[in-house]
Amino acid sequence: MVAPSAAALGLPYNSVMDAKTLRSRYEELKSQINFHNYRYHVLDAPVISDAEYDKLLNELKQIEADHPDWVTPDSPTQRAGAKAADRFDKVRHPAPILSLANAFGADDARAWYERIRKLDERVASAKFVVEPKIDGLSVVLHYRDGVFVQGATRGDGEVGEDITANLRTLKAIPLKIPVDSGQLTVGGKTRPTANYQLPTYLVVRGEAFIPIREFEKLNKKLEEAGEKTYLNPRNTAAGSLRQLDPALTASRPLSLLVYQIIHSEGGKVPTSQWELLEYLKALGFPVTDVAKRFNDLESAIAYTETWNTRRDELPYEADGMVIKIDDLNLAAELGFVGKDPRGAIAFKFPAREVTTKLLDIRVTVGRTGVLIPNAVLEPVEINGVIVERATLHNFDYIAEKDIRVGDRVLVKRAGEVIPYVIGPVVDARTGKERKYKPPTVCPACGQPVEHFEGEVAWYCVNAACPAQLQRNIEHFVSRGSMDITGLGYKIVEKLIETGAVKDVADIYTLTRKDILEAVTKKDRKTDKEPPGKIADNLLSAIAESKNRSLPRLITALGIRGVGEVSARDLANHFGNLDALSKASVDDLQEIEGVGPNIAEAIVDWFARPANKKILKKLKDVGLWPSASRSTVNRQPSGPLSGLTFVVTGTLPTFSRDDAKEFIESNGGKVTDSVSKKTDYLVLGENPGSKLEKAKSLGVKIVDEAQLRRLVFK
Ligand code: IVH
Repeated sequence: MVAPSAAALGLPYNSVMDAKTLRSRYEELKSQINFHNYRYHVLDAPVISDAEYDKLLNELKQIEADHPDWVTPDSPTQRAGAKAADRFDKVRHPAPILSLANAFGADDARAWYERIRKLDERVASAKFVVEPKIDGLSVVLHYRDGVFVQGATRGDGEVGEDITANLRTLKAIPLKIPVDSGQLTVGGKTRPTANYQLPTYLVVRGEAFIPIREFEKLNKKLEEAGEKTYLNPRNTAAGSLRQLDPALTASRPLSLLVYQIIHSEGGKVPTSQWELLEYLKALGFPVTDVAKRFNDLESAIAYTETWNTRRDELPYEADGMVIKIDDLNLAAELGFVGKDPRGAIAFKFPAREVTTKLLDIRVTVGRTGVLIPNAVLEPVEINGVIVERATLHNFDYIAEKDIRVGDRVLVKRAGEVIPYVIGPVVDARTGKERKYKPPTVCPACGQPVEHFEGEVAWYCVNAACPAQLQRNIEHFVSRGSMDITGLGYKIVEKLIETGAVKDVADIYTLTRKDILEAVTKKDRKTDKEPPGKIADNLLSAIAESKNRSLPRLITALGIRGVGEVSARDLANHFGNLDALSKASVDDLQEIEGVGPNIAEAIVDWFARPANKKILKKLKDVGLWPSASRSTVNRQPSGPLSGLTFVVTGTLPTFSRDDAKEFIESNGGKVTDSVSKKTDYLVLGENPGSKLEKAKSLGVKIVDEAQLRRLVFK
């Protein structure tokens, strides 16, 4: 059955319907609603609106209220069940629920292969299926005559806990299989289940989890409600499934992917893992779309390794990939070592989260005077790097998470992100931990700190604070700003100490003597050049920096919220610093991308006497660039002018950089995240969560070929 549209459904329930018509209407409603659950929660592609769905469900509920004896366990109304007693019943699994041996790299995987090849020569010509290893909770689902009748946790692998009522609340779990009678289209293709026969008793295994985005949303909601947030998706998923009240489970955004048949009776199921995944999909189970089959181990390893670098594109936490022998009979014959089957191996990704002790919290002062709390950690290795410091974001974060000095804390280091403390491991507390009190004075200059309405951060507002000055200068001389080579951290520190530099403008009146004094004062062990040469180079670098453009100077000033992009727009709009310094909040907001906060920060910056002094000094030394529209580096115009793009997944011929260049050179803009302002999502293979977001915002989706066509119409 292909789902008819809601409008094409049979006659809605009314009291004069005869019993037979009503009964068939009831059956039809059940299968319709199950179908729409599947479209929504498994395929992520609903075909009716929420309102239409609710209407169907209400009609079903009405019939069930009048005919309680008709209600069957596969009715979608049965997802919310009654509370369990004080514990769960035990369930003996029909076959052991096995675990997996680990491989920590390609060589481990090759060693595994060699071992099993020696055991059975058929391994030499075996195919392999690679699947994501989802970091969730293993669950076992029982279907009798196609109806979901029981669900259990893995437990010790022999006996698990009966969490049927909780699992029923997961809309991704089909209550009845197949969801249709075999004509269902999956991924655009019709996959008949005709080669196989649905067993009268089927037990499947899958992994329940909370998608990362849903987890973040959940935590945000809790945070807004002033409640404690959760540490990570895995623990939250596990906790949610072991609630005695199914209503609680239902309120958590749990999902599921199925990957194994544990047991079957009275039917015919595939004997290849690849076909098994297709078969489970055709029955209506949620199945990963990242799996691939390979003819040899090396290709399987290569695929696994590509996912190691792309793991952030997966919508759930994955701690590795599983490499499985495709031939399930061969895999079974290979047997096990303990609880680990020889026919599969978990290829683990490097760890990203570890626990360690929080030794101390130290506060540094940022460029804008913001106080930043940093964790001093007992050194710990994460993914080959020793981590001793991590950010704690801000003081509210420490209070909200109740992070105490001496706590065991969970630390995350992922990709480009600075390591950060996720939260305390409360169960590991000994009572010796100390609650943390934020400082009331700046740790660098001792002046009282201030807090601004509506902001979580605390600031040192002392314009003469040496820590701030240091950060300001570091920013002023950095690459994207005035780009002055030779003004490193150490020498700046000394120039501040000797009093030669009291603000950024003083850089331009530095004498050879000032520099020599600072150079000889600083730790010179690392310098290969004589002080005189260092001073001369620095003086010429400073002189040369006077030619920098207006956008760069605006960036260099370090106004809160003004980065390279807004600096370019401001330069473009106002033409020089005189005009910009006189702009009002309203004037500033006329510029696209400048909101009320940035506008206020700009006005505030120019109003401060210390900054007025800086501007005057800059003008006096002749550093006063202006921007005529033609000199400002503006985006080229072209067929994509005015359009904003986001790229996700792997494109067939463009690399990410190629795609960006292509779009920009044709006048378009490329941003990193999808928002209401995005015009197009350029979609490649294996996209991440951006696709979902684009769909939910109604952003147009194009592939690489369509993108090219936008340009070469
Ligand atoms: S296969 C014989 N496949 O990883 C089959 N396991 O560390 C053994 N897991 O307990 C399991 N995703 O909970 C398999 N695609 C996947 C998986 C997967 C996650 C979990 C599973 C298992 C653990 C082993």
